[in-house]
Amino acid sequence: MTVTEPTEPILRVEHLATGYDDLQVVWDVSLEVRPGRLTALLGRNGAGKTSTLRAISGLNRLTGGTVELAGEDVSRLPPHRRVRRGMAYVQEGKRVFHRQTVEQNLLLGGYGRRRAALRPSVDKVYDLFPVLAERRGLLAGAMSGGQQQMLAIGQALMAEPSLLLLDEPSGGLAPVIVAEVMDRVAELKRTGLGILLVEQAVEAAVAVADDVALLDIGRVVLTAAAQDVADPAVLRDAYFGRTAPVPAKPLSRNELA
Ligand SMILES: Nc1ncnc2c1ncn2[C@@H]1O[C@H](COP(=O)(O)OP(=O)(O)O)[C@@H](O)[C@H]1O
Ligand SMILES: [Mg+2]
Repeated sequence: MTVTEPTEPILRVEHLATGYDDLQVVWDVSLEVRPGRLTALLGRNGAGKTSTLRAISGLNRLTGGTVELAGEDVSRLPPHRRVRRGMAYVQEGKRVFHRQTVEQNLLLGGYGRRRAALRPSVDKVYDLFPVLAERRGLLAGAMSGGQQQMLAIGQALMAEPSLLLLDEPSGGLAPVIVAEVMDRVAELKRTGLGILLVEQAVEAAVAVADDVALLDIGRVVLTAAAQDVADPAVLRDAYFGRTAPVPAKPLSRNELA
């Protein structure tokens, strides 16, 4: 973690709480994402990672706390207005249109934008994911899981976001493919995009992260600079509850009140 902050966070979440009807599942999530940086939100199955992303995107109602996008409080805005302000959300499970081609999927991702403005966005996605350029005329459903995940990310990028919320891009993929997808995600940071990456694949996520937040039963229990997470395997074991100490030093900046 650098001592001076080069830029203001693109996303600032403070004491976020959310749930479903009367069921509260997230009590206290505070985290930040800076432009060109990646924050990994880690936690075991059921910890509340997806619920947190849904609340940040506006799909779930906040029952407490705030969501700030580029310094603006968007906590009460509907999802589509958060998208228009630069927030893109890739939901769990590689949601692409199987019976549309790769390029049609990308164009659909730019829905609502002027058609003439879409071409440069499509070309940018192809630069980032050459495999999609090669398969532009192929039906999305004919591609591998890893390629579909890249397409799902490409679709989100068609909105030209400044913040990308990514829910478990490793889900259901073989380890070697996970590495490839993470490699592309790391590349995305270089475009200046801020990324909030939700993962159960701790080691793969920490490898591309700048900051790490650990979620357990709806609360962030640890935040750290990724470089201070000396051994992600120990972190993984700690959050699965197999060993006690977490070998990362908490950041004073991000420490919960
Ligand atoms: N649509 C829903 N209705 C009621 N409870 C839900 C719903 N979705 C998730 N939950 C519950 O919320 C908790 C957190 O789930 P989730 O946010 O999906 O966790 P994660 O993404 O970390 O696996 C779990 O106990 C889950 O059963
Ligand atoms: Mg989930």
